[in-house]
Amino acid sequence: MPNTALQLDYANILDSAVGPVHGLGLAEIDRAADAVSGVVRRIEAERPAGKHRYRDLPTDRTLLKTVQAAVKRYAGKFENLVVLGIGGSALGNIALQTALNPPYHNLMTGPARRGPRLFVLDNVDPVQIGNLLAVLGTGLRKTLFNVISKSGETAETAAQFLIIRDLVARQLGSKAVTKNILVTTDPEGGTMRAIVAAAGFNALPVPPGVGGRFSVLSAVGLFSAGMCGIKLDKLLAGAAAMGTRVASPDVKHNPAAMLALLLHAFYVRGKRLHVMMPYGYQLKDLADWYRQLWAESLGKQQDLEGQPVTVGPTPIKALGATDQHSQVQLYREGPNDKVFIFLEVGKFARDIKIPRVKGTPDTLRYLENKSLGRLLNAEKHATEFALVASQRPCLTLRFPLVNEDTVGQFILLWEAATTIAGGLLNINPYDQPAVQLGKEYTFALLGKSGYEAQAAQLRPTTGRNEQHIV
Ligand code: PA5
Repeated sequence: MPNTALQLDYANILDSAVGPVHGLGLAEIDRAADAVSGVVRRIEAERPAGKHRYRDLPTDRTLLKTVQAAVKRYAGKFENLVVLGIGGSALGNIALQTALNPPYHNLMTGPARRGPRLFVLDNVDPVQIGNLLAVLGTGLRKTLFNVISKSGETAETAAQFLIIRDLVARQLGSKAVTKNILVTTDPEGGTMRAIVAAAGFNALPVPPGVGGRFSVLSAVGLFSAGMCGIKLDKLLAGAAAMGTRVASPDVKHNPAAMLALLLHAFYVRGKRLHVMMPYGYQLKDLADWYRQLWAESLGKQQDLEGQPVTVGPTPIKALGATDQHSQVQLYREGPNDKVFIFLEVGKFARDIKIPRVKGTPDTLRYLENKSLGRLLNAEKHATEFALVASQRPCLTLRFPLVNEDTVGQFILLWEAATTIAGGLLNINPYDQPAVQLGKEYTFALLGKSGYEAQAAQLRPTTGRNEQHIV
């Protein structure tokens, strides 16, 4: 294993750490390993037939070349890059940017900023969008809009697109529409693909068989990352290295299989809240990305045989040390229904020493000459120790450092763990029928033709609600 490999430490979920009522025994893990190993073997056997297509992305050279060519075409020509997308078409972009560029990237100027300012509009809030347009102001000509929608049907992204296309056409002229807008969508079908063909937009593909929340390592996440100076080859190399590890049927050497095994075992025991708590600001939006992946993939009402099951863990995101002062009281003394997944950083990209100066009161002397990195890691260990003392099971994912390599590993690790957990729950991790229904009711409420039946269902509900408003 290279020394930049992510490590999963599960010592603090064992019964030897948190006691037999709340911990898992080694024998129990060994017993579960056979079933998990079977799921891994099945997944690997299904891959040549085109299932689990996201697993091929890290080694897809054609895709990388396509994205790199697009980055080359646009790099240096734009001051701002605005991503229009939502869910799996936005969260990965945000996570990569927070993890691999400085937190104040958009405030930086000159060569220190590795590309355009990046804004990701993952909502249709009029105040948010109105404000962004005001900030862009006269800089519209220097703004590239990347519309990302696999289906091309999503109301939020479609609304953003229509507003931006109109604005660009009115302010910059109709020729600018294809110059300042790049579309990432399904290579063959969907409304957005039809618009691309009709209007001649430049476009990048979302590979067939790769769903939104599994698409960050495709053009969906790679284009904005590449534009902002993130090293795509290293990101994919990290993911590819993890791809090898997660293919192993030996659970003790497969961190995705072990994660799925442990979190599934706790789920079955009633610990259904899975709290990811990064101790590193760079990792905070990866926890948000995980939240969508784990929730939307595993929360299902039917199993693979179509039988009712109603399963799914609830992922929660917290940030160390910030949320120690917000959540940890509940986490230690509230219901013991959670598993904690700490993200720990070995070496921070930069560090700051707390100075020793004259006049510091004795009570604060313990901080002198310590680095902030050391303080943050001490807080992680202390919080974990306190949770374990309260019999709360804790996992740690250790990043030797945060860079393209380890972030790539993290992404593929969780994607693979999600597929394996889906296998253990016997559900399809790649669909989202419940989200679809909400999309259809939105169409109905806004009068889209073909959705009259849904509109009729909605009316009585609205009427009833009005009588119950206080
Ligand atoms: O994971 C998913 O499939 C969803 O979160 C989608 O990414 C989200 O609904 C946006 O869909 P689309 O890219 O088709 O606009």
